[in-house]
Amino acid sequence: MNATIIGSQFGDEGKGGLVDVLAADADVVVRYQGGANAGHTVAHGEDTYKLRLIPSGVVQGAVGVLGNGCVVDLDTLFDEVDRLRERGLDPDVRVAACAHVVAPFHRFADRAAESAAADEEAIGTTGNGIGPAYEAKAGRYGIRVGDLVEPEHLRARVDAAVSRTRRVAEADFDAETTVNRGEAETTDDGGTATAIDTDDAFDPDPITDSLLTFGDRLESEGMIVDAGAFLTERHRAGETILFEGAQGTQIDVDFGTYPFVTSSNPTAGGAIVGTGVSPRAVADGHVVGVVKGYLSRVGNGPMPTEMDDERAATVRELVGGFGTVTGRPRRMGWLDLPMVRHAARVNGFTGLALTHVDTLAAFDEIRVCTAYELDGERVADVPSTIPAWERCEPVYESVETWSADDWGRIAESGYDALPDGARAFVAFLEDQLDVPVVAIGVGPGRDETIVRRNPLAGQQIDTEGRPT
Ligand code: IMP
Repeated sequence: MNATIIGSQFGDEGKGGLVDVLAADADVVVRYQGGANAGHTVAHGEDTYKLRLIPSGVVQGAVGVLGNGCVVDLDTLFDEVDRLRERGLDPDVRVAACAHVVAPFHRFADRAAESAAADEEAIGTTGNGIGPAYEAKAGRYGIRVGDLVEPEHLRARVDAAVSRTRRVAEADFDAETTVNRGEAETTDDGGTATAIDTDDAFDPDPITDSLLTFGDRLESEGMIVDAGAFLTERHRAGETILFEGAQGTQIDVDFGTYPFVTSSNPTAGGAIVGTGVSPRAVADGHVVGVVKGYLSRVGNGPMPTEMDDERAATVRELVGGFGTVTGRPRRMGWLDLPMVRHAARVNGFTGLALTHVDTLAAFDEIRVCTAYELDGERVADVPSTIPAWERCEPVYESVETWSADDWGRIAESGYDALPDGARAFVAFLEDQLDVPVVAIGVGPGRDETIVRRNPLAGQQIDTEGRPT
């Protein structure tokens, strides 16, 4: 039995915690898209692990795989591997030969594009080179992990990638790519237009050398695999695979608030094309959508339920609303059910994991958007263009609030120990979305997720996601 864990909102739903809990029953945990733009936090008692690239399940001892759909920043990868080793873990991480590499010029191009964009056009990316690396992949001038162990071939790939990326950065973004400016500078308005330190971002010699060094290490540690073959063999041997989505459905390049999206597919189809595992094997299991009880977003783009500044500041104070990777203040909003309904349909959720139920206890009011008013009509799903998004007016229902002082005890005692209001909220969501809530997060720790029905145990929800 396999399971896929997917963010149903804008990312930052608390997927890492759920993956960590379920990974106890998994042999392999695989990330199928994205790169070091993710920020997954795993808390075990006093210990907190913040991971951007390695699948969170490795903290539980599962084999971690970065599938071909990922874009891999090797500096970050090895930094994470080394830090986990220093902390006494023995991470077994494999990387798909067909995964793409994020190189310094991708990061440069990402930041140059953002700096050159007018305010309303900037995506608000994490600046990690994710978009340019996927552009190179689709444009067929990308560098793949397997290329890192073929020196001559690699050099040709680097030359091609450097010259293509440089041309775009200079022509489209008016970026200076040849000068090493040394210390980053900041513009008068506090922006980062000239704050790009080119260093060796476009110098093929050091880039090739460093990629070859990474290639040696990947090879000597036996980390490069044909992900599809590796995972299929494990699946056929009866092992359990957890597909770990990063980011969320609303920033999926196809199904999100395009163009304010990331450049990959966090949605369920991504688990297939991003790993090389057959649709039948991926579908041989459950798809759990992670839903946070309120909304937050780093980066720009539509968010009809966005709170006003004053309330957002209060909520940010309560929930520590700053991006894990970027440190930027998150935009805050009320739970938006048209978005989750859209996510449930696109991904075929068989269960939902509701997170941050303890955080919501601190709210003096909880509103939920159940539909939008759009051009005089009430709609239950999301639109597909930015102008239509901007015309969406949320229709709210207020729900009963709750409070509790000992979430640890509640987590230990289980679902029935939740405050009445929280259980009513769960029932309300199940009714609105027609998907059962299979797990409830009442804190960041491994022991603070109440699992009502473990999708990896298999017997507790049927293929329609209904309780058995
Ligand atoms: P990129 O993925 O860095 O290109 O950023 C594109 C958009 O996705 C921006 O709005 C980012 O803030 C957002 N984003 C990327 N990764 C994450 C994530 O892991 N959590 C939340 N938002 C993200």
